[in-house]
Amino acid sequence: MAQRPLNVGLIGGGAGAFIVQPHQRAIFFDGTRRVSAAALHPDPKIALEEAKNWLYPIKGYTSYDEMIKEESAKPLGERIDYVLIVTPNHVHFDPAMKAIQAGIPVFCEKPLTVTLEQSDTLVKAVRDTNIPFCVSHTYLGHWTTRFARFIVQSGLLGDVRWVDSYYLQGWLADRAEDQGVIQAEWRVDPKQAGASCCGGDIGTHALMHLRYITGLDVTSVQAHLETFVEGRQLDDHFTTYCKLSNGGKALVRASQIALGHKNDLGIEVNGTKGSLLWRQEFPEELTILLPGQPDRTYFRGSVAPNDGFLGDLPEELMAEPTIPPGHPEAFHDAFARLHRCFETDVRAYEEGKPWNDDGSRYATVEDGRRGIAFIAAAVESSAQGGGWVDF
Ligand SMILES: NC(=O)c1ccc[n+]([C@@H]2O[C@H](COP(=O)([O-])OP(=O)(O)OC[C@H]3O[C@@H](n4cnc5c(N)ncnc54)[C@H](O)[C@@H]3O)[C@@H](O)[C@H]2O)c1
Repeated sequence: MAQRPLNVGLIGGGAGAFIVQPHQRAIFFDGTRRVSAAALHPDPKIALEEAKNWLYPIKGYTSYDEMIKEESAKPLGERIDYVLIVTPNHVHFDPAMKAIQAGIPVFCEKPLTVTLEQSDTLVKAVRDTNIPFCVSHTYLGHWTTRFARFIVQSGLLGDVRWVDSYYLQGWLADRAEDQGVIQAEWRVDPKQAGASCCGGDIGTHALMHLRYITGLDVTSVQAHLETFVEGRQLDDHFTTYCKLSNGGKALVRASQIALGHKNDLGIEVNGTKGSLLWRQEFPEELTILLPGQPDRTYFRGSVAPNDGFLGDLPEELMAEPTIPPGHPEAFHDAFARLHRCFETDVRAYEEGKPWNDDGSRYATVEDGRRGIAFIAAAVESSAQGGGWVDF
């Protein structure tokens, strides 16, 4: 029997907002989820107006407080099954806590919060209530990211010695915040963005990618947070040299002044047997370099077991819903994969069944907290001129 679609409540995402749009498409991707309600703007009148003008009929609320209160009073099946938080960073903690307290699962944008204390509080609340919580590290949703994780963690490249994980953009190379770009205005403001602009915004993606693919953690960091555009209080260029939990080393770096770079998130892993290269702007491909052998580029959909490098491939990886090779998957598919995995856990939660939030399918609240701890350590190291800071 067909299952009823899950109802999603948006927090943030009114006219001109960015990341709500890929999310709302991804929510509808499989036909098993839909957006049913929203608190789209901090101004109550505008919030209702924008809900009325939304692309399809939804229930508008004047605020997320009102939405959480009214929706949680409805019976299951009529109320929202989870909230999606797509507000600026300083408006993640409060709605997330209120949703948890009302028993509503949370899909929250990164970076998790603006302070480590807030992240600690969220971790405790999620564990105390045992409620599904996803942090939206989009790029974990690419099939090739999951494939990279399998290759590295199954030991096919030997022990990891060195990782270069980066995210390069050029859109803040001049004062976009003075040119009416709303996404720039709050990102350069410490009250709304947190202690780091570039590091918090995209350095956390580079860190999460390293942790997800290698299964290693960063244990110590030397950092330089730099500001190239005059008049900014926060970094627009972020470089960290890191110790890894297996004794290896890494660069985790990000830039928003790298002119010409668009969304150049990538990773190179050097192991004792070979290397792996992946870039999100070419998300259908993954390259393996082995000494004395021709370079191998794998394309999503054309990966076969026991090809002379790969052994057997995990059933759950090969069973991931995709489209035939050559019909490209990209950004929206990655978002949809995260929402699809989260949906499974929300349904299990509602049915009182156990679910598996071990971080293998999407970033957990602990992963989100790790990102904030990394930023706090990097800010401290940079303030000391780049000395080692453990965390
Ligand atoms: N996962 C990714 O790849 C990715 C990409 C971009 C942005 N993000 C994250 O998503 C979040 C939003 O970023 P964006 O670029 O879409 O920002 P944006 O400025 O485009 O949109 C933010 C929206 O939140 C609304 N808002 C602010 N305060 C609110 C409140 N109290 N109640 C209701 N709505 C409120 C604004 O009106 C706006 O509609 C940020 O945390 C950012 O770091 C993630």
